[in-house]
Amino acid sequence: MKKIIITIDGWSACGKSTLAKQLAKALDYVYIDSGAMYRAVTLYFLRNHVDWTNLKEVNKALKNINLRFIFNPVSKATEIYLNEENVEYVIRDLVVAEKVSEVAAIKEVRDFAVKQQRKMGKDKGIVMDGRDIGTVVFPKAELKIFMTADNTVRVERRFKELVEKNPNITIEEVKANLEMRDYIDSHRKVSPLKQAEDAIILDNTNLTEREQFKKAMELVKERL
Ligand code: DC
Repeated sequence: MKKIIITIDGWSACGKSTLAKQLAKALDYVYIDSGAMYRAVTLYFLRNHVDWTNLKEVNKALKNINLRFIFNPVSKATEIYLNEENVEYVIRDLVVAEKVSEVAAIKEVRDFAVKQQRKMGKDKGIVMDGRDIGTVVFPKAELKIFMTADNTVRVERRFKELVEKNPNITIEEVKANLEMRDYIDSHRKVSPLKQAEDAIILDNTNLTEREQFKKAMELVKERL
């Protein structure tokens, strides 16, 4: 059966990864969370005290970073490994979220990630979510979805996720982080978040997970 590339871009915390995982599972495609790569690089920089305003330091550090995605049969999704350590959960921490947009705005970091992302898509049969997947990474993808949702709904969803791991977190902190990331991600010079001209908008403010999956699957069937 014909295999395609599906890109899902959009604002922070609007359900991109949930939809991407649903589609990958249904189609038996590989799911790649491109944001996890920027988060893992940020984690490495933080742990190793890399001054990312200094490009020499950035380039040196990138040479020591090996990222891999490995399928976890229990969670039934791919998880990211940073130099052979599974960092899938630790990269979700607010400490990383607070710095990731700054790190993801660095051209060298983006070149490092995009090169690997393109390689992962060479055989198609992939669902990748992020901010620049339909515009920069796979501009010729067969299906591009741009996701959006009401701000309040996004804050509440992300707060629910984070408070389970960190009961001290406040909704104000989560709101401030999402607003800051959306601003930096959509205003940076290199590959800013924007809707690809040929992307289909999916607003899931009032959709259940099942409904959003159904809508996306209809789009997939059209492309196949
Ligand atoms: O999808 P996420 O929230 O885990 O992504 C974390 C950050 O990484 C996000 O704030 C912006 C950056 N990012 C990016 O610049 N380009 C991508 N393709 C994916 C994520």
